[in-house]
Formats: sequence, structure tokens, C-alpha cells
Amino acid sequence: MVKLTGKKKLLTAVFISGRGSNLKSLFKFSKKKSSPIKIQIVLTDNKKAKGLLFAKTKNIKVFKINYSNKTNAEKKIKIITKKNKINLICLAGFMKILSKNFIKSFKGNILNIHPSLLPKYKGLNTHERVIKNNEKYSGCTVHLVNGKLDSGKIILQKSLKILRNDDAYKLSKKILKIEHKVYPEAIEKLFSTH
Ligand code: GAR
Repeated sequence: MVKLTGKKKLLTAVFISGRGSNLKSLFKFSKKKSSPIKIQIVLTDNKKAKGLLFAKTKNIKVFKINYSNKTNAEKKIKIITKKNKINLICLAGFMKILSKNFIKSFKGNILNIHPSLLPKYKGLNTHERVIKNNEKYSGCTVHLVNGKLDSGKIILQKSLKILRNDDAYKLSKKILKIEHKVYPEAIEKLFSTH
């Protein structure tokens, strides 16, 4: 894991595929004086991702990657991250799985947020499955990315109690609110120097 020295901030790339609400929360966090990150670029596999509009309003450089060929896509991502001196990647609703090779080349400096209490409910439609199984609790997890879907060392996890009238939609809203706190907290936990 990369170490922070002096007043240097981690030059961070946020990868998104859609709405970008976690991107927003990470951006807000990055603007704090004590924040260990600076968001240098936003990268997406989806040129229609709503989060790109936000990135543009904040003058963050945006890269749209054609993912029709994963090997080529990752080659391009490597070039972009190198050129922009990126030392941390935050996946924030990025719906592509990075190859083991790519992750290795990034020496473990890749984080992901997932809307469940991992290792439970990896993958898609998390909230629907949680509700269907009558779980008592759900939540979200920030973890290191290791080449397997929604796996890797857990950095931080927060849970909430599911109420009787919660459906998948209500639950997703509640958990998203927590996500916006947990992602910055996980980064602070990993990299803060104070
Ligand atoms: C978030 O709920 C995030 O946890 C989830 O996608 C959503 C993206 O929302 N990620 C995954 O499911 C990854 N497996 P956002 O675009 O508003 O940040």
C-alpha cells in the first residue's frame, strides 16, 4: 500500500459507471485540508454516466473508456493512470471487473465500496436479495480490490437494522447515505497522517 509522506496527497482516480453520488462525497472529502486524497481524474466505461456531469462542473479531467475489448481498455487505463501520476484508484459504482494483472500492476492501491455486509451478498441486486432473505441487518463495506468480485481485505464496514417496512428501494437509499460517510472514513483510516 502506498505511503503518504509530508504534505503530499494521493493523486486519486475515481472510476464510475453511473450516478456518481459516491464520487460527489469523495470530492467533498478531498477538499478538506486534512484529506489525504486529491481527485485528479474520473474514468468511466459508460459515456452516459450521470456522474460525468458532476466531474465536469468541478473541472476534473474525465476519461471515457471503450470496454468492448477488456484487454485494450485496461491498456488504455494503464497509460492514463501513469500519465496522470495516479497512486490510488477508488472504484465508486464501477461495474467492470478489473483483471488480476491490472490490479497487480497497481500494487494493491485500489479500493471499492459495495452496498452489503461483505462477504455476504457480493454482486448485483444486493438489496433485493437481502430483503428476500429477511435479513435483520445490511450495510456497506469498503475493501481492497483483489481480482475476485467484491472480495479483498475489508477496511471498514457499517451496518444498519432493516425495518419491517423497508423494501429494496428504501434500503438502498439508507445504505447509500452511509456509503457517503464510510468511503471517506475508510480512506482516512488507511492514509491519514494525523
Ligand atoms: C453504490 O451503491 C455502490 O456501493 C455500488 O453501486 C452504487 C453506485 O452509486 N457498487 C457496487 O455495487 C459494486 N459492486 P453511485 O454511482 O451513486 O456512487
